[in-house]
Formats: sequence, C-alpha cells, structure tokens
Amino acid sequence: MIDTKLIKMEDNEALALEMAAKIWKTGGLVAFPTETVYGLGANGLDAQAATKIYAAKGRPSDNPLILHIAQKEQVSPLVREINKAGKQLMDAFWPGPLTLIFPKADCVPYKTTGGLDTVAIRMPSHPQARKLLKEVQLPIAAPSANLSGRPSPTTAEHVWEDMNGRIELIVDGGAVGIGVESTIVDLTEGIPTILRPGYITKEMLETVVGEVKIDPAIMGVLCPDIHPKAPGMKYRHYAPKAPVTLVEGKMDAVIRFINEQIQERGVNTVGVIATEETKEQYQGGIVKCIGSRSDMESVAHNLYDVLRSFDATNVSIIYSESFSEEKFGQAVMNRLKKAAGQQMIHL
Ligand code: TXA
Ligand code: MG
Repeated sequence: MIDTKLIKMEDNEALALEMAAKIWKTGGLVAFPTETVYGLGANGLDAQAATKIYAAKGRPSDNPLILHIAQKEQVSPLVREINKAGKQLMDAFWPGPLTLIFPKADCVPYKTTGGLDTVAIRMPSHPQARKLLKEVQLPIAAPSANLSGRPSPTTAEHVWEDMNGRIELIVDGGAVGIGVESTIVDLTEGIPTILRPGYITKEMLETVVGEVKIDPAIMGVLCPDIHPKAPGMKYRHYAPKAPVTLVEGKMDAVIRFINEQIQERGVNTVGVIATEETKEQYQGGIVKCIGSRSDMESVAHNLYDVLRSFDATNVSIIYSESFSEEKFGQAVMNRLKKAAGQQMIHL
C-alpha cells in the first residue's frame, strides 16, 4: 500500500506543483484535474512509470495512454509528422478537450502506446492541469483516474475512492467542468476520424478541416466484425456496480415502463436516471436527476457522479432514460451505452 497524499491546489499551489513534479520525475503516479475528467498521470517517456499506471488501474496493457502537454512545441519531438489537418485542429481547439492521434516517434515507449505505432496527445485547458504540466516539462501519460471499468472520476473524492493506497498524490482541483472524456481524432489515415465522441463535436471539427469521419464502432453497433480503432472503446466501461439498462422510446412510454419495473421489483431495488423534466413522474424507485434535457452540458457534467452515486444505495438494477444523439448528445449516449454494456430496451 502506498501512503496516498491529497493536496488542494488552491490552498498551496507552490507545494502542489513541487510535489507533483518531483513524483513525476522520479517515476511515480499523480492524479490531477483536467477540464474533462481527472487523469492518473505518470512520465509518458518512462516505460516503467507507464507500467505502474496499468497496475494501479487494473487496466489491460494493450489499452494505450494519452500524453498530456503544456505547450504545442512539445508535440514535434513525440511524433513523426504533423499533417495539415493536425496543425489546423491544434490551432483551433488546443488547449482544450481534443486528443489527436499521430504517428509516434521512437522516443515514445510502446508501453505508453499499448504497442501501437501511433501516439495520442492532448493539451488540456484546465488552468491547474496547465500549471502542473508546465512545471514538470514532461509529456504526462494519463488515463482517467478510475479503476478500470468504473465511471471516470469528476471530483477528487471519486479519485480517492478508487486510488487511495495505489498512487503517491492526488491534486484536488474541485469538480471538473465538462464531465466526459476528450474527443479523440485519428489523423493517421487520410480523412480525420473520430474514435471517441466528446465535447468537441463532428460539426465543430468540420468547420475547421472539412470532412470528418466517425469510427462506426463508436455508437456501439452490435457487430462482432467491427473493431474499434481506439482499443479502450472495446471494454465495458463507465459502469456502476448495479447493471444499467438504457430505455429508448417516446418519453411517456419510457416513464410508464420504468414505473412498471418499480412496481414489480420493489421501490428500493430500482434506480432511475431521470431528468429535470421527468423526475417527478416516477412512483418510487431511487430517482437521480442527471440534468435538463434542454442542456446536454448539464447532463454530461453530472453523468459519472450520478452513475457512481448508485453504489451507495441498494439498487439491484438501474434504468436510464436516453437522449438524442445530436451534437454533444452523441458523447453522452456513447458513455451511457457503454455503462449499460449494450443492455437496451427499445419501446
Ligand atoms: O479526457 C480525456 O481524454 C481523459 C483525461 C484524463 O485527459 N483521459 C482519458 O484517457 O480518457 P483514457 O485512457 O481513459 O482513454 C484513452 C482512450 C482509450 O480509449 C484508448 O484506447 C485511446 O484513447 N487511445 C490512446 N492512444 C491511442 C492510439 N494511439 N490509437 C487509438 N486509440 C488510442
Ligand atoms: Mg478511461
């Protein structure tokens, strides 16, 4: 067991920066806030440090990590080429919740890239993440700071639940803003391709680079022949302990169906992921409001906290309303489908 320290960056910024940089430079693990979710960081150029990330998360080591940087100039030593679309996307969206995949340079260890010849890089916009990355001046490999398979952490408390005893330091920067992971775009095969949807939508990318494709594996098409290009997308993910079932259909049919389940199974055993617009209409059940249907940003922001909060209840099944897959809704539905492990009911 490691004695995990927690430091609030706003209480003592100088100390937080010094501690984090020292741990990273000596091969240790530090969790830190970003604008999307908390990351579990290690020196991305140190194969041994990357190995520790997989161990702390209990994550399969074929699942590559994202390198986090403070300045755009840090990209060129890590990659073989930055093409035109890459330059345009970096200029338009960095710092911000966009990860770009480039052909990797030799200095990036295969342990970091899960054996791939490509490398994922992002420059976060969270002010505290930027300060930490600027101080250490190393590319920091960081997956989300949750145990593998669990919902990504959006507060330092979530990180503590999963990582206490496993890592050296948690930098507490309060709740994150966006709440779902960065959009991932592959630049290595012609037309830029979205491998994971996020806050930066296809429409936003297309205003900058023209045509953008979407990896068909993203929306959880049930087809054994489709292999996602982002290896992480093939695992069941983002899941609370009780199984989640996603219910799609007209709103009144969805509410009626879930109310029937509550009647049949008992009020304390059914969890419901509801919205501002619908939450009053459930009769019993452990009802959690995820946000407003007219504000997908609120839904994304609350998503992982709501999923995690069911672990403190005795529910044995969770029913979730579903959302439109337009724009940012695609990122939210992608996470909900993964939390549901493809358990979906169409009414
Ligand atoms: O918002 C985020 O991206 C957060 C914060 C901490 O920055 N990080 C994050 O990392 O979500 P992680 O490890 O949970 O997800 C990384 C995803 C995985 O699905 C992985 O397979 C994919 O990125 N990935 C990484 N490198 C790749 C590569 N070279 N080619 C294809 N997919 C890659
Ligand atoms: Mg993750």
